[in-house]
Amino acid sequence: MSEMVGFSDGFGTFTTGGSNGNMLGMLCAREHLLAGSTKQGFDGRTTVIFVSAEAHYSVLMAANVIGIGHQNIIKVQCDEDGRMRPDRLEEEIALARREGMRPLCVVATAATTVRGAYDDLEALSEVAHREGLWLHVDAAWGGTCLFSNVHAALMDGVQKADSVCWDAHKMMGVPLICSAFLIKNPDVLRRLCDHTNVAHYCSTAMRHQTTSDGILSSVHGATMRLSCGLNGALVAMQAGLRWWTLEWRTQIICRRKSRLIRIWK
Ligand SMILES: Cc1ncc(COP(=O)(O)O)c(C=O)c1O
Repeated sequence: MSEMVGFSDGFGTFTTGGSNGNMLGMLCAREHLLAGSTKQGFDGRTTVIFVSAEAHYSVLMAANVIGIGHQNIIKVQCDEDGRMRPDRLEEEIALARREGMRPLCVVATAATTVRGAYDDLEALSEVAHREGLWLHVDAAWGGTCLFSNVHAALMDGVQKADSVCWDAHKMMGVPLICSAFLIKNPDVLRRLCDHTNVAHYCSTAMRHQTTSDGILSSVHGATMRLSCGLNGALVAMQAGLRWWTLEWRTQIICRRKSRLIRIWK
C-alpha cells in the first residue's frame, strides 16, 4: 500500500479505524514540527491545524486527543464541488500567523464523507510544504480508487503527502475494522511510538526493514504504532488486497463510481 501511494521508502502500520489514522497523522506532524513533544509534552493552545470545511468530524476528536482542542481546527472553505480551496488555505495560514498562532499541518480529504469530493492534493501539497507544514491525507474511504486505472487520477499528488490513512473496511469491503496508516518518513513514526525498551518481551516477533540509507534494522510492530497487538488486521488486509488486485473487481468500482457520478449530477 505504501508503494501504491508512492512512498517507496515509507512504512505502514495498522490503526483501529480512519479516525485514529487521522489522529496518528496529526501526532506525527506534531513530533515532526515540535521535535521532542512526544517525550516532553507541549502547550497546544496556540497550535492550529487546517482541514476542509467538509472534513470528517474525527479531526475534531483528534484535536482533542493531541492537545490542541476543537477550536484550533481551522475549517477552510471549499469550492462548489466540495474540494478545499488552496487559495483560501493560503489565506487562512497567513491569517493564523498574523494572529500569533502556530500552524502545524494540513489535513486533506480524499474523499469527503458526504459528497465524495477529492481535494486537489497537488495544489494543497504545494501550499502546505511552501509553508513548512505537514500534509496528512484522509483517504479513509476514497483511497481505494488507487486500484482503478480510470479513477486513480483522483489521488494525483498523494505521493507528495507526508502521511495517509486508508480504510480497508470502507470501499474495499473488508468486514472487520481494518485501517492502514502510511508514512513517508518512518523515523517520525518511530520517534512518536518510542517507548524505549520496556516492551523487550515483544522481541520474538521482530521484522526486518531497510531504511533509506541502507541500514537493516529490526523493528517490532509495537514500536511503530500506538497500540500493541493488531495481527488480525493483517490477515483481513491481505485478503482485501488479494480481492482488489483482481482485475474484474476494479472494473466494478469503475462502473459503480460512474453510475454514482451520473446520479449526483
Ligand atoms: C473521510 C472519512 N474519514 C474518516 C472516517 C472515520 O473512519 P473510521 O470509521 O474508520 O474511524 C470516515 C468515516 O466515515 C470518513 O468518511
